Amino acid sequence: MSSSPEHPSDPGAGAFSVRLAGTDLRFTVGPGERILAAARRAGIWLPFECGWGSCGTCKATLVEGEVELLYPDAPAVEPRDARRRRILTCQTTPCSDLTLKVLRTGPTAERPTCDHRAELLDAQELGPDIRRFRFRLDTTSRYRPGQYAIVELGRGLRRCYSMTGPAGLDTVEFIAKRYPGRAGSTALFTLSPGDAVPVELPYGDMWLRPGERDIVLTAGGTGLSPILALLRELADTADTRRVHVFYGANTEEDLVCWDELQALVAGLPAARLHGALLKPSESWSGTVGLVTDALRVRLPELRGAEHYLAGPPVMVDAVLTLLREHNAPIDHIHYDRFG
Ligand SMILES: Cc1cc2nc3c(=O)[nH]c(=O)nc-3n(C[C@H](O)[C@H](O)[C@H](O)COP(=O)(O)OP(=O)(O)OC[C@H]3O[C@@H](n4cnc5c(N)ncnc54)[C@H](O)[C@@H]3O)c2cc1C
Ligand code: FES
Repeated sequence: MSSSPEHPSDPGAGAFSVRLAGTDLRFTVGPGERILAAARRAGIWLPFECGWGSCGTCKATLVEGEVELLYPDAPAVEPRDARRRRILTCQTTPCSDLTLKVLRTGPTAERPTCDHRAELLDAQELGPDIRRFRFRLDTTSRYRPGQYAIVELGRGLRRCYSMTGPAGLDTVEFIAKRYPGRAGSTALFTLSPGDAVPVELPYGDMWLRPGERDIVLTAGGTGLSPILALLRELADTADTRRVHVFYGANTEEDLVCWDELQALVAGLPAARLHGALLKPSESWSGTVGLVTDALRVRLPELRGAEHYLAGPPVMVDAVLTLLREHNAPIDHIHYDRFG
């Protein structure tokens, strides 16, 4: 196996063929294309979840052939993977014809991901280094509110952004934060209206489950994006379940879309909004502290709810620990770690 960091080199002029061991399935992968993307384009289902290198769900064994790892330091790559010739199909491109062994495969029955060309319409300042980006897609989008897209912000520079708006339109909206000096968000914030980028969607497991359980939506920072999408869906469908929204940030300035959240919550019959600020002004009436502090006091009554959470890894992990301490059922916890 050969590897390069952020920018893959061209693996060759032609396309390569991938055969799935133990099946009669075969598909073609274009130059520099990711194996997972090529498979789903061919209508073949391969296991995946995050789509970019964090979960490890897409690991396959390389039986024959040579590949280029497009993101060798991905969080899901373990030291023993190279020894066992295991690769992430979401971050690997062939350098020759391949035979792969995967745990499960078959024709795709799931909502397939789709490639779009997305043209930036506008970017609105919401807070310090936080903007709402609106893109026009070349075709109507198909996703569930709460899911995310992978935006290609340069060759090999793929980053995940959660859609905040309703599906079925030819526009998508993301709320994103800029991290100065870091590649992905800097490239996103450098785009001007009219610029176009490739966008692949949908990904992710953060969609609203039916049922009777109360709903708890917990967001930290820009983790607000999928939470806003879920809340909008609840409002659009006039959902009657009890809903609690927890949203944490550093200061009032960072608590973007607060008015929008208040309006959505006010429109639902049984919803409440709880804010938590680390450094509030004197007029702040919510929790002073972390979003986990706001959640902790109400968790005994909410442990059996359907939980959705999104935000920085440290916040998501803290909430997961809290939920485990309260024996919240794991099947009813859905989360995106924004890292
Ligand atoms: C499911 C999900 C949804 C997200 N939704 C949002 C959102 O709605 N709004 C928002 O502002 N942010 C969101 N993020 C975070 C976003 O994707 C970026 O991580 C963030 O913008 C910082 O990117 P950066 O390149 O500036 O920082 P960096 O620190 O350079 O990179 C950020 C992350 O990308 C990983 N990475 C590095 N190289 C590669 C590579 N070659 N290929 C793939 N990944 C690589 C790094 O490991 C790191 O975890 C989401 C993340 C995830 C996982
Ligand atoms: S799909 Fe998650 S690591 Fe590949």
